Amino acid sequence: MHNPAIAALGLNWRYLAFEVHPDSLRTAIAGAKAMNFVGLNLTVPHKLLAFEMMDVLDDSAKTWGAVNTVRFEAKAADGQWLPLHAFPEPPKDVRAHGFNTDADAILRALREDLKFEPRGKSVLLLGAGGAGRVAALKLAQEGAKLYLVNRTVSKAEQLAAELKDGPVIVGYPKEEVDLVINATSLGLKPGDSLPFDAKSFSLSRARAAYDMIYRPAETPFLCAASAASCRTANGLGMLLYQGAKALELWTSKTAPITIMREALMQNVYGPSV
Ligand code: ATR
Repeated sequence: MHNPAIAALGLNWRYLAFEVHPDSLRTAIAGAKAMNFVGLNLTVPHKLLAFEMMDVLDDSAKTWGAVNTVRFEAKAADGQWLPLHAFPEPPKDVRAHGFNTDADAILRALREDLKFEPRGKSVLLLGAGGAGRVAALKLAQEGAKLYLVNRTVSKAEQLAAELKDGPVIVGYPKEEVDLVINATSLGLKPGDSLPFDAKSFSLSRARAAYDMIYRPAETPFLCAASAASCRTANGLGMLLYQGAKALELWTSKTAPITIMREALMQNVYGPSV
């Protein structure tokens, strides 16, 4: 999705994938900095490791305790730190600025793909792992009422204790909810069961359903949600919007979302979609 977007923005840049062993992450970041890369994206398990390796951290990274986007920056004549595209010649002193674009991507995906506005709404969140935790913190910050369910109950309780921004209950709701989110890994593998206990909750009690999984495009959870007349969306939007935000951080330009979405769909689901 990045290369077609970079081309559309008229930049002579390339987005490339590098496989880096966690033991070499610090060296790899230093190398990218020395070679005047404009930035990096990091994925599992590097997001947590990179947090300790940045010269400066944006609030988005501090809040979530993880870095998925690095922007290399240098000091302009007026003392301001700017992205490297602002310098005609490679600058001398470059710093690594760590961001996390995942959390905002969750909200944007819910807003744009599901027309869901969290304030005052009730959400059943299934899963309190890495992705579930970020979704919970962000939704609570935006004023949603949360029900947290996790296979390991103590993790849901721990997360609930962390949420000071709004009402949160550990367990299934008795009444209807506006949205149910699958943030567990159930649905990734064929034959996986539904990510909730059918004796404790029915999808007919939810208005909308979001699955963070995007491959397969329609998980058993989303199939069941559609059958129960919920509005549905899968996790492709989260991947898209975290990437779009990263591109905006590096280029200081608005990301061409339509081009990125098309490229992403072709790459993930194949050219027939
Ligand atoms: P991610 O970063 O994608 O959130 P993770 O941190 O490993 O990955 O979290 C995986 C989530 O899926 C957790 O909520 C996990 O539940 P536990 O905390 O009890 O491990 C959940 N999960 C994984 N396999 C599951 C299964 N078979 N049944 C129910 N929940 C499952």
